[in-house]
Amino acid sequence: MSTPSNAPDSTSSATSPKLDLGSHASNPAGPAGKHPAPPCTLVIFGAGGDLTKRLLMPALYNLTVDGLLDAQMKIIGVNHGEGETSAWRDELSAALQQFAADKASTFHTSKLDEKAWGSLAQRLEYMAGEFESDDTYANLKQKLANTPGGNVVFYLAVTSRFFKPIVEHLGKAGLLKEGDDGAGFRRVVIEKPFGTDLASARDLNAHILSYAKEEQIYRIDHFLGKDTVQSILAVRFANALFEPVWRREYIDCVQITASETIGVEGRGKFYEQTGAFRDMLPNHLFQLLGMVAMEPPNSFDAEAVRDKKADIFDAIQPLKADDVVFGQYGKGPAGQGYREEPDVASDSQTETYAAARVFIENWRWAGVPFYLRTGKRLAARRTEISVQLKAVPFRLFRDTPVDALTPNVLTLRIDPTHGTSFDFNVKAPGPVMQMGAVQSSFNYGDFFDEQPNVGYETLLYDCMLGDETLFQRADSIETSWAAVEDVLHPKGSPLPVHGYPAGSAGPAEADALLAQNGHTWRPLSKDADAKK
Ligand code: BG6
Repeated sequence: MSTPSNAPDSTSSATSPKLDLGSHASNPAGPAGKHPAPPCTLVIFGAGGDLTKRLLMPALYNLTVDGLLDAQMKIIGVNHGEGETSAWRDELSAALQQFAADKASTFHTSKLDEKAWGSLAQRLEYMAGEFESDDTYANLKQKLANTPGGNVVFYLAVTSRFFKPIVEHLGKAGLLKEGDDGAGFRRVVIEKPFGTDLASARDLNAHILSYAKEEQIYRIDHFLGKDTVQSILAVRFANALFEPVWRREYIDCVQITASETIGVEGRGKFYEQTGAFRDMLPNHLFQLLGMVAMEPPNSFDAEAVRDKKADIFDAIQPLKADDVVFGQYGKGPAGQGYREEPDVASDSQTETYAAARVFIENWRWAGVPFYLRTGKRLAARRTEISVQLKAVPFRLFRDTPVDALTPNVLTLRIDPTHGTSFDFNVKAPGPVMQMGAVQSSFNYGDFFDEQPNVGYETLLYDCMLGDETLFQRADSIETSWAAVEDVLHPKGSPLPVHGYPAGSAGPAEADALLAQNGHTWRPLSKDADAKK
């Protein structure tokens, strides 16, 4: 989350930056005065994978258009199996063209700019190599001998079983040494899943940190790459209105939803091992929880922000079995059941839905339930945070026809619509005192140009700059896993998995979870979406 203080000229115009294929260094103004990242080589392990095609390359393309990549920057794609640079370039060009043609994609680029793609393509080099073979790293070492500025970012866009061996090989080959022998910075970007529970996360951290320093490790949670997530801190801390009420005295509950209409999309094998809870809760949803609950930091400095977030993860009351509801979609209006999906067992007990009640034991939040829910094949695609305020005293309305007041709710909409909504009450027009529950909405698109953004631009750019604000520290990863340990490894019988029809709002048991504290979920339906 680089701030304009990184920019050489913080007064630069905030208008859309334009591609300059000449010397970027001589034309440093990118978006909002951003300047090109330092020269480096980006080594992508998993060059042929989906992540590289769907997210990393589109993000690098967008950074190229914005003039944010250094003119000397190089990209080496490592993959097992034979291959050639020209074939890799063609494959990526086809993928980007297809992505651009897809109106529903977040690329927001209807046609690939040939000049921009050409500039990116000429940086690309393919290198065949097994991830666990010494030869691969010897070969890489040669190629990196003249990396610009001695700087390298190693991006592990690979399945998690390769995290340990790749870092180990990099370390043993001396490729993670910074400072001497002409080496500048050496950074390692690691994708999720970072472990599958507390023990495996500790083990992975310990292993990695025996070859690299913590400052060299950039653990990605792609939710933090979303502008709307980064904006949570801005909404909270740049407006005098919200912070005074952002505490247990005024807030009744907070609901964090990440619901999806898609199923497991051919990822049955992965999902059977993982389930909705591990896939989303202690990582993506906890990150949103951290942003919404953290104390104000003194600056946007990476450690200042990460320390405050770490305090929240540390204060989460460990979840118990009765704080959690698991569900699995069966046949319903949105299609077949989970057990009919490819690579899924016909008697699978894997949850495709998880809801949790979380308490944060600190002075600001004690007693306020944070309800988290996520699931596949639900009624609507929605990632949002709703902050529900406590009821006001009713005395004033006792002698009027008003029988109930709806609570004020501030909703931060992250995906697929971007903005905020505020639910409040007004007097309905007419001679008698009747209440009208209304909503005031702000949509990003009404105020700003929709920026091409697949969510990885800021993360890649920040990593090249050395800004770790949006990346996760080892301690936070471990405290997050620690908070859910009893759910992942229950002492008694496994947690029940309740059925819900594909296309519904989830299992009824999740409603009962909230009813215990007198709360109800925010409606999850296409009708409710249409009102936004
Ligand atoms: C991924 C999960 O990390 O996040 C997926 O593995 C999930 O199962 C995805 O669909 C959701 O991300 P987004 O950005 O599409 O909301």
